[in-house]
Amino acid sequence: MYSALTTAEQAARSLDRETWTPSEVPRPVASPARLAIDLDRVSKRFESDGSTAVAGISLAIPARSTCLVEGPSGSGKTTLLALMGCMLRPSAGRIRIDGTEVTRLPEDHLAALRRGRVGFVFQSHHLIRGATAVDNVEVPAIPCPGIDGRLRDRSMALLARFGLADRAHTRVERLSGGEQQRVAIARALVNRPSIVLADEPTAHLDADTAETFLALVNELRAGGATVVVASHDPVVCGAGLFAQVVRLRGGRQV
Ligand SMILES: Nc1ncnc2c1ncn2[C@@H]1O[C@H](COP(=O)(O)OP(=O)(O)OP(=O)(O)O)[C@@H](O)[C@H]1O
Ligand SMILES: [Mg+2]
Repeated sequence: MYSALTTAEQAARSLDRETWTPSEVPRPVASPARLAIDLDRVSKRFESDGSTAVAGISLAIPARSTCLVEGPSGSGKTTLLALMGCMLRPSAGRIRIDGTEVTRLPEDHLAALRRGRVGFVFQSHHLIRGATAVDNVEVPAIPCPGIDGRLRDRSMALLARFGLADRAHTRVERLSGGEQQRVAIARALVNRPSIVLADEPTAHLDADTAETFLALVNELRAGGATVVVASHDPVVCGAGLFAQVVRLRGGRQV
């Protein structure tokens, strides 16, 4: 679930064949009035130890909107994002993504939905060791037939946006933690998802690079994407950028 497998699953998303640079905007996929993410009294209890990570969260995030999920360590941020990204099934409650009730969809339908719409920045990156930065960025596109050279242009443009043009051909285990985080952000965006879920995306970044990420959030939203960021980084939380703020404590909304 929180693994590279999920990232690889994103790979089947069909690629737009046009060259994309980060300053361009993704395709709008939903009308502004629609809810991109709709949670109704959602809870998640882990059977392994009986802990309840998320309890009774109701949340409506319109398409083309932004949402910040705040809360201390262990408050349920990652679990909530994983539920929104259909990587976890709720123990109770209902989840709709772009109007589709996903709560009881079979796994292959969920996988298709993730591939088609969701870009996820994992808190622990989940990069593929031994592969270069640019190859990691391209992982979500691997199963797509007919990939052309413009994928490489798009990947390189994303890496350049985050100051990694000269590190693109370096194996990721030789990159710093912050550089790896930037590769993970680029990978989440390479297929131009309509829903971007970013889990502590600036935890390893300096303030300037965190600002670059925030500028990107603005661009994504302006281009029609819905962006949810989980963070306790003061740069992110103090930016006043997000249309909606969800505060979690002990898995509950406060
Ligand atoms: N797979 C799991 N099995 C059992 N318990 C889990 C699992 N994943 C998370 N939890 C528990 O659920 C709670 C919320 O975890 P979660 O990772 O969502 O918090 P978080 O707010 O993202 O924390 P952090 O800021 O440290 O990343 C924690 O108490 C955690 O131990
Ligand atoms: Mg977390």
